[in-house]
Amino acid sequence: MDPYNALLRPLLFSLPAEAAHNLAILCLHLTPRAILRSTFGPQPQAPVRLFGLDFPNPVGLAAGMDKNARALRSWEALGFGFVEAGTITALAQPGNPKPRSFRFIEHRAIVNRMGFNNAGASAVEARLRRMKASGNWPRIPVGINIGKSKLTPNEQAASDYATSFRLLLPYGDYFVVNVSSPNTPGLRALQDTAALAEIIRTLKAIDASKPLLVKIAPDLVQEDIRQIAAMADSEGLAGLIATNTTLDHTSLTKEQDTAGGLSGAPLRARSTEVISTLRESTSLPIIASGGIMDAASAREKLDAGANLVQLYTGFVYHGPALVRDITAHLPR
Ligand SMILES: Cc1cc2nc3c(=O)[nH]c(=O)nc-3n(C[C@H](O)[C@H](O)[C@H](O)COP(=O)(O)O)c2cc1C
Repeated sequence: MDPYNALLRPLLFSLPAEAAHNLAILCLHLTPRAILRSTFGPQPQAPVRLFGLDFPNPVGLAAGMDKNARALRSWEALGFGFVEAGTITALAQPGNPKPRSFRFIEHRAIVNRMGFNNAGASAVEARLRRMKASGNWPRIPVGINIGKSKLTPNEQAASDYATSFRLLLPYGDYFVVNVSSPNTPGLRALQDTAALAEIIRTLKAIDASKPLLVKIAPDLVQEDIRQIAAMADSEGLAGLIATNTTLDHTSLTKEQDTAGGLSGAPLRARSTEVISTLRESTSLPIIASGGIMDAASAREKLDAGANLVQLYTGFVYHGPALVRDITAHLPR
């Protein structure tokens, strides 16, 4: 019996999406890891070495699930091969008014307009410092995803990202510049290659030793994707994450629809297309995110050229068994 499908999911799905999310994070924060491990099984092993890091398996937790890095070791205990904390912004911010996250069960999808609600880089730095000092640090790679504070104008974006990067530098094994959330007004304009190159150069001037990646949107046209791939090569990025949520809601009916980024099964095909376009243009590592709901969709991303995969919506719908299922079906 899968305890997530049988017990946890019915309980969590009886609550509104954000309340369920907060309850899940609280439980993960409080539950002893030995209990998580004995409930969900040992961590699946399918080692991958990438950007100088050792991943016990290629299935990671996508950004947005653990925005404030509250449960880092629990993700390891649930079987993940890596975890990406954030998005964290320089300034603490409350995000958009609630409700701001919605499940569409018949589509195995979520629409969210959270708006980078997070405790801010200083508060997260303090938590990570305590965790490190106590020896309570995960043994899987930890990525840190940083975003632009809502109040900071785009012209000052580079220094806003730099504030978070400087503070969080000792704690991330890799860093992600998030310019692809649809829920911070104007953020996606930073996918313009000149704006993006300025952010990357600013961060690399602070520290060039940590792998730096950029997370892109699925709503870019093919030419823009190719230009970002070329820029990633010329600026010495370690890799790209494709993709964030989509603004294309054509899979939802008008009555269902609500503002925000769509994730889950309806995003699968487009996000794979973006990975294929990137792979035609660059040999840099690609982390796939978008509609990975089962082993077949994970395999599709790897076949399109991805090196690692990340789960968000698939994990909400299928729980930790999905990590094991994907790992078990990897080509040997
Ligand atoms: C409720 C919610 C919050 C999210 N927050 C973030 C975030 O803070 N930063 C980020 O880079 N992506 C965020 N994402 C996007 C996911 O990381 C992922 O890229 C996207 O949902 C596509 O993957 P999926 O189809 O597996 O969910 C969020 C997604 C959801 C559903």
